[in-house]
Amino acid sequence: MPTLTSDITNPALASKGLDRIEWAFREMPVLQQILARFEKDQPLKGLRMACCLHVTTETANLARVLKAGGAEVALCASNPLSTQDDVCASLVQDFGILVFARHGADRDQYYRHINGALDIEPHLTMDDGADTVTVVHTERRNLLETIIGGTEETTTGVIRLRQMAAEGALAYPIVAVNDALTKHLFDNRYGTGQSTIDGLLRATNILLAGKTFVVAGYGWCGRGVASRAKGLGAHVVVTEINPVRALEATLDGFQVMTMEEAAPLADFVVTLTGNRDIIDNRHIPLLKNGCIVANSGHFDNEIDIPALRAASTNERLVRGGIMQEFTMQDGRLIYLVGEGRLVNLAAAEGHPAAVMDMSFANQALCSAYMAKEYQTLDKTVYSVPEAIDAEIATLKLASMGIDIDKLTPAQVEYLHSWQHGT
Ligand code: NAI
Repeated sequence: MPTLTSDITNPALASKGLDRIEWAFREMPVLQQILARFEKDQPLKGLRMACCLHVTTETANLARVLKAGGAEVALCASNPLSTQDDVCASLVQDFGILVFARHGADRDQYYRHINGALDIEPHLTMDDGADTVTVVHTERRNLLETIIGGTEETTTGVIRLRQMAAEGALAYPIVAVNDALTKHLFDNRYGTGQSTIDGLLRATNILLAGKTFVVAGYGWCGRGVASRAKGLGAHVVVTEINPVRALEATLDGFQVMTMEEAAPLADFVVTLTGNRDIIDNRHIPLLKNGCIVANSGHFDNEIDIPALRAASTNERLVRGGIMQEFTMQDGRLIYLVGEGRLVNLAAAEGHPAAVMDMSFANQALCSAYMAKEYQTLDKTVYSVPEAIDAEIATLKLASMGIDIDKLTPAQVEYLHSWQHGT
């Protein structure tokens, strides 16, 4: 293996990055405990890991934990706009982690960075959106000789991987970290809920109270954003394609309608579907003057940006470059936040550390699980073992000083019997 050199924007930013990484770590008590355990037990000893994640302060703390567990880590970005250059600098200078990430990298550089991380010739991959797995399976199949397994962070990545497994194309086992209850119930709902609103407020500084706020997709992320927008006084409208979720949104008190009905009413539209073309040519002519559109789903294809551009006569950057203003042929102005990329990462700092504590505890423990169990696993997508989920919830509760009741012997017996009636 050649000697690898990090590719980052500015090593001089390290002290600012370290300060922020340490701040985040204070809010990550579960990961702190796992770090202490990993230092002692070395569950990843001798393993090389290629990790493709949003390069934020929380990810830096995960990388520290993996290294403490004995792994050699190469980190690249899972999204060019979420990369925090000060964090990259500190990871390289203070923690000896290989980093291939620059904020604002273009498409070529983005893939060069993924390949840079893969040059470590990993035993384990860790993804947020399955881009590393895709590159390995398409362009760098020779790496399959050393890879023993991987983990995946997000809904969109898990969907891709399950499709690969169904087609028999997946060449190594992967744990779907997103499926852990201690991940999606908290990260997708409360993390995306708070940080998406945070991104919109930082980008626009517009009062949400009294505005019509359209949430496309009432999944784990959409539920979080809808409830937070409602809490700030917005009139929330939900669009869905799934009748059960649409019904749930209705009974949760939201107005449900089609995007074509919602577009003329919306002051804000936020897409969180994991699907493409949620706002496209069908809706662009209907959006009202001044509407702000943003995406918090994984990929930047939820809003058809080429269609928006084609329908406009002028485009300029406003608010320090975080928003594009499109002038439409009829004079309407439409605003797009953060180039249609995950708004909570493009315009804010991503999820709060307290939430990523649980998501990344899952990543750390599932990597250790994979290192131990890979020989017993098939080339498919696995759920997070229940014991890991329960352990993380228990550690998190303990860190919050919360005790819960325990079953009495009579209750245990009752729950395991069928003879008891009224
Ligand atoms: P989910 O599967 O729970 O929810 C997605 C919802 O969108 C479903 O209810 C589905 O019926 C709906 N949907 C699909 N096509 C639609 C359409 N054409 N119109 C309206 N609704 C439609 O997924 P989850 O966990 O909520 O994730 C959503 C997206 O957000 C994924 O891309 C995921 O990777 C991403 N994500 C983003 C995060 C962030 O930090 N911004 C954090 C976690 C996940």
